[in-house]
Amino acid sequence: MKQEKTLIEMVNITKRFPGVVANDCVNFDVRAGEVHALLGENGSGKSTLMSILSGLYKPNDGRIFVDGQEVVFKNPRDAIEAGIGMVHQHFKLVDTFTVAENVVLGSKKLGFFLRMDNVEKKLARLSESYGLGVNPSAKVWQLSVGERQRVEIVKMLYRGSRVLILDEPTAVLTPQEARELFATLKKMTARGHAVILITHKMQEVMEVADRVTVLRRGKSVATINRSEVTPRDLANLMMGQDFVGGVKREKGNIGRTVLEMTGVNAEGEGHRPSLNNISLSIASGEIMGIVGVAGNGRRELAEVIVGMRKISSGRIRVDGKDTANKSPRELIDMGVSYIPDDRLGTGLVPSLDAVDNLIMKSYKKPALGKGLFINLGRARAYAEKLVDEFGVKLTSIHAPVSLLSGGNQQRLLLARELAENPRLVVAVFPSRGLDIAAAEAVHKLLLEQASRGAAVMLISEDLDEIFKLCHRVGVLYKGCLMGDIPIEEASAEQIGLMMLGASKSEVKAS
Ligand SMILES: Nc1ncnc2c1ncn2[C@@H]1O[C@H](COP(=O)(O)OP(=O)(O)OP(=O)(O)O)[C@@H](O)[C@H]1O
Ligand SMILES: [Mg+2]
Repeated sequence: MKQEKTLIEMVNITKRFPGVVANDCVNFDVRAGEVHALLGENGSGKSTLMSILSGLYKPNDGRIFVDGQEVVFKNPRDAIEAGIGMVHQHFKLVDTFTVAENVVLGSKKLGFFLRMDNVEKKLARLSESYGLGVNPSAKVWQLSVGERQRVEIVKMLYRGSRVLILDEPTAVLTPQEARELFATLKKMTARGHAVILITHKMQEVMEVADRVTVLRRGKSVATINRSEVTPRDLANLMMGQDFVGGVKREKGNIGRTVLEMTGVNAEGEGHRPSLNNISLSIASGEIMGIVGVAGNGRRELAEVIVGMRKISSGRIRVDGKDTANKSPRELIDMGVSYIPDDRLGTGLVPSLDAVDNLIMKSYKKPALGKGLFINLGRARAYAEKLVDEFGVKLTSIHAPVSLLSGGNQQRLLLARELAENPRLVVAVFPSRGLDIAAAEAVHKLLLEQASRGAAVMLISEDLDEIFKLCHRVGVLYKGCLMGDIPIEEASAEQIGLMMLGASKSEVKAS
């Protein structure tokens, strides 16, 4: 690899939070022209280290150098001034403003002479030259998630970032958008920018990274050239032991039908129908995968089953009982469990602790208390038992769950949803943002649910996950179910084509 000059050096960085050392004497450097991947298990300190580099957190100890000069960042603006920009997982854009307005918002250059048309011109040039396809005069609310991410990137370029930090950028992107993002990153590094990429996906590391730094429990364990490692080496460095993955679906005992949907239609946002004449069934012991490009009805399908969206016609039954248009509460009592894709939105309540989050669904049960009065001792014992059973790692059961790492939040959510042995589990992207060990743990839990006799619907964007766990796979396209294929007969290519609208028979013929 070409030896480029070092832009950033972080030396002996230590950051402590109550009860945990998030970064423990970490050394990390970034060179011009490289994509530097930052890998590590959930909770290993990646986001913390990058929040320090982008001026959001102050380290307890350690020094940062930019171009060989020591810097001390008091806030993100200082970091941006030094050419360091971070794109967070939750974008910080104002919906009702245009792209250009968002870009100048909070920028120091904002003054009397700032002309919006000039800003737009410059943005259009930047967007064009990096292949971002961003329209500067579009309102942010009109944009897709992928487009919003590109707005964040163009914003950082506009503000002169030479080092761009991306925290799990592809977690919210379709495979197609991810490829486009990587092409943009390559254009940036070709011009001497540096990119720091936090990701859990090994194939992304192998595809775009020049160097890789691995964090384990707050310490940096290695910085290596990508060309000198295999995905397995990286997994072992992350976990400090040989990783033995490989849980897999079993033939299993497929029993009676649990979920049955017949001719279900539902309205979407605006005037488009979001679900169009959906008929499917899932039996006890069975895992059915659902795939589709975003915007084709994946989320809506989950929502009508769990009572968060009304259907306009059709029938939904669970164990033969009519469940259509019942409330989420009624459906919980009928044994329908929902693992939503936004852990901290519809899933957990971020400001509450693990106990409150875990008892949220069971507080009506007599074991925890009478009426509205919860027996605190019993609630705590119940929560501790689940935390233990589901392997949630936390420093205190009474800390807000917003402070847990992504993987542990997900385990907590699964613990709550699976604790009462549901009949039907609807899981949406359950392993998004999880490291390989945590994803494996989630897979194991879903398989256990099926072998216990639950029916499982797994909505996923990860075809490897679908092939590993599911007995059948259905493809959603424009609100229609394009096929329902036994997994042994499915190929990734066939599914990919169906996601773009090809029918099952067309794909077979070709
Ligand atoms: N603001 C905070 N207050 C208290 N503890 C925190 C805070 N932010 C992070 N932590 C803790 O610091 C540790 C490192 O967290 P961090 O978010 O950096 O991990 P990560 O590697 O980004 O994990 P993930 O892959 O799940 O995103 C975790 O134990 C986390 O619970
Ligand atoms: Mg993180």
